[in-house]
Amino acid sequence: MANDPIPFLDLVTPHRELEEELVEAFRQALRSAAFVGGPQVEGFEREFAAYCGARHCVGVANGTDAVRFALMASGVGPGDAVVTVSHTFIATVEAISQAGAGTEFVDIDERTYCMSPDALDRYLRGRKTDPATGRPLGSRTGMPIKAVLPVHLYGQVADMDAITSIAARYGLLVIEDACQAHGAEYRSTDRSWRRAGAFGKAAAFSFYPGKNLGACGEGGAVTTDDEQVAKTIKMLRDHGQAQKYYHDLEGYNGRLDAIQAAFLRVKLRHLDAWNETRRAAAARYGEVLSKIPGVIVPFESETSRAIYHLYVIRTKDRSELGDHLKSQGVFTGLHYPVPVHLQKCYREWGYGAGSFPVTERVCGEILSLPMFPGLTEDQQKRVAAGISGFVSAVSTT
Ligand SMILES: Cc1ncc(COP(=O)(O)O)c(C=O)c1O
Repeated sequence: MANDPIPFLDLVTPHRELEEELVEAFRQALRSAAFVGGPQVEGFEREFAAYCGARHCVGVANGTDAVRFALMASGVGPGDAVVTVSHTFIATVEAISQAGAGTEFVDIDERTYCMSPDALDRYLRGRKTDPATGRPLGSRTGMPIKAVLPVHLYGQVADMDAITSIAARYGLLVIEDACQAHGAEYRSTDRSWRRAGAFGKAAAFSFYPGKNLGACGEGGAVTTDDEQVAKTIKMLRDHGQAQKYYHDLEGYNGRLDAIQAAFLRVKLRHLDAWNETRRAAAARYGEVLSKIPGVIVPFESETSRAIYHLYVIRTKDRSELGDHLKSQGVFTGLHYPVPVHLQKCYREWGYGAGSFPVTERVCGEILSLPMFPGLTEDQQKRVAAGISGFVSAVSTT
C-alpha cells in the first residue's frame, strides 16, 4: 500500500514463500531424530563448499565461532597478533581475542569501506621485525603478526589480490571474514571471478537470520582448501574429539545444528536469485540517489560483484535523515555507529578519536537503507523521494 511502513529488512515474506519446503525439512528432521551432525550437516557442507569454490566447508554454531575456529585451526593463538579493521561488527575482534591473539587495526578504503591495501602496506612497512620469528611486530600489542583478517563488509569482497600479495611479502596468513558476503564475487588479476570464501587460508561465514543466507536461528561455517584446517575445525567444534570420548585437544560445543543445516540447504538453492534481486535493487537505488547532492552511494569496482547484504549511503546529516525517513514510515539501520577501536570494552587499548580517520569519518556519515530481496520498485521510489525531499528542505533552510 502507498503509505505502509517500509521495513529495513523483511524476513517474514521469504519464509512465508518457503514455508512448505522448510516445514518439510523440519518434518524430516523430526522423523529421523538426527538433530546433531548427520546427513543434513554433511550435505550442507558439501553444497556450500561447492558454492563457494572451496574444497572443504565445516558447519559451526555461528559466525563468531567460525572466525575464532578459522584462526585457531590455522595456527593463530596466544602470542600472535592479527591485523584487521575497526569498521566491522565487533564479533570479528571478539573472535581474535577468543583465539588468544591480539588485535591490530588498519584503516579502511574510503570507497569500498573494506580494508585499505595501502593502509595495510604502510602499516607493515613501518613495523620492526621480530628477531625470533622474522615477522613484523604489532604496534599496539608488540606481538609478532601472524595473520591479516579482511572483512568483506556489506557484501563486497575486499581487494583480495592486493591484500594477499602484501600479506605474502611478510609471510602472513590471510583469513577472510565473509560473514556478510555469501556469494559476493571478486575478479583477480588472472581475470577469474571467485566467490568470497575462496581467497584465504580459511574464511568464516555467519548464517544469522538477517544475512543473505540466513538460518532460522543461529549458524556459521568455515570454508578452506586446507584439509588439516578442516579436520582441526571439526574437532574444535566438537569438544576436541575426532573419535567419540577421545579428546586430542580441548575444544568447544560449536556445532551447526542439523535442523539449521536442513533449512540452509533449502535456502542455498535460492541464494543466487535473492542476490540478483538485491543487485537489481542496488542498481535502481544508485541510479536515483547518485543524483542527489550530498549523498554518496556504494562504490563497486570493475573487479567486484557485491551482494548488498546492506545498502549503505553516506551523508553529512545522516541522523536527521534517518529521523525524517522514519517520520515517513521508512526504517533505516546504522552499521555501525561506533568503530570497534572506540568501543568502551576496548578502552584499555588506548585508542582515541583520530586513530583511524577514514573509519571514523565513514562511521559518522553512514545510513543503511531498506534492502532485502522482496523490496519493490515502488518502495524504493518512496525511500528515494524521502531522501530527496529531506535534502531539498535542508538546502533551502
Ligand atoms: C562481519 C561479521 N563478522 C562476524 C559476525 C558474527 O556472526 P554471528 O553473529 O553469527 O556470530 C557477523 C555477524 O553479524 C558479522 O557481520
